[in-house]
Amino acid sequence: MLAKIEETVAYINAQTDGFKPIAGIILGTGLGGLVKEIDIKFTLSYESIPHFPVSTVEGHSGKLIFGYLNEKPVVVMQGRFHFYEGYSMQMVVYPVRVMKFLGIKTLFLSNASGGVNPAHEIGDVMILNDHINLNPDNPLIGKNIAELGPRFPDMSEPYDRKLIARAKEISTNLGYKVHEGVYVSVSGPCFETPAEYKYMRNIGGDAVGMSTVPEVIAARHMSIPCFAVSVITDIGVEGRIVEVTHEDVIAAASKAEVKMTAIFKALVGEMA
Ligand code: HPA
Repeated sequence: MLAKIEETVAYINAQTDGFKPIAGIILGTGLGGLVKEIDIKFTLSYESIPHFPVSTVEGHSGKLIFGYLNEKPVVVMQGRFHFYEGYSMQMVVYPVRVMKFLGIKTLFLSNASGGVNPAHEIGDVMILNDHINLNPDNPLIGKNIAELGPRFPDMSEPYDRKLIARAKEISTNLGYKVHEGVYVSVSGPCFETPAEYKYMRNIGGDAVGMSTVPEVIAARHMSIPCFAVSVITDIGVEGRIVEVTHEDVIAAASKAEVKMTAIFKALVGEMA
C-alpha cells in the first residue's frame, strides 16, 4: 500500500511541477460547482493516475484538480469513490491517503444526504459535528500501516471543532441558516425504507448518506482535521417521505451548492 501511494504521489508531483496543496477538498454528488471558483493550474483525470480507482457514478466526473481557492493552494477531488460501486474500503480512501502525502493539512468534504431531522428542508445545509458509521466495513480493517497512523485511532473529535465554530460564524455573516448535526453513513445503494429512516433518527442521526465517513476515518487515522457539510437533498421524516431518484438528488444538490461553496471558500481562505 505505501509503495503504491509513493508511486501515485511521484506521478502526480511530476505532472504538477511539485504543486503543494494545503487543503484537500472532496466534492459530493451534484456539488462540483466549487471548481468554478478555483484558479486551476493542473487537472488530472482519475484514469491517468497510477493505482487510482476510476469513478462510475453519474454526477461524478472523476478529476483531480490542482489550483488556488481564495489564494490558497488546494487539491480537489471532483467525484469520489463509493463502497456501493464495488470498491473495497481501502480503495475508497486511497485518494485521501495520497492527498496526505501531497501535503494537505486539512480535509474538506461535502455530500448529498437525506434529512431525518424534522427541522430539515430540501436544499438545507448541515455542518457535520459527528457521525455514526453503519457501513458493513471499515477502511482500517486489516494490517495497520503504522506509517499512516495507530492501530486504534481516537475518534473523539471526528470533525474539527474550531472549523465548525468558524463555519457557523461565516454562515451567519453570509445570512445563511445552517444546521449542525450527526451524519449516519450507510453503504447504499438503496435509499432507505421509511422504517430505516425512522431508525436513523432514533439512533441519533440528523442526516443519512452513502459517503464521507470512510474518508474521514482514513483522514483521522492520519491525524488530519476534517470539516464536512451535507446538503439535504430529500427528506426521510415520517409523513414527508416521497420517492427519491438520483436525478432529484443531483437537482437539489445543485441548488444548495452555492452556500456550501461559499463556506468552503471562506474557511480555506483563512488557512495559515
Ligand atoms: N439516503 C441515503 N443517501 C442519500 C440520501 C438518502 O436519503 N439522499 C442522498 N444520498
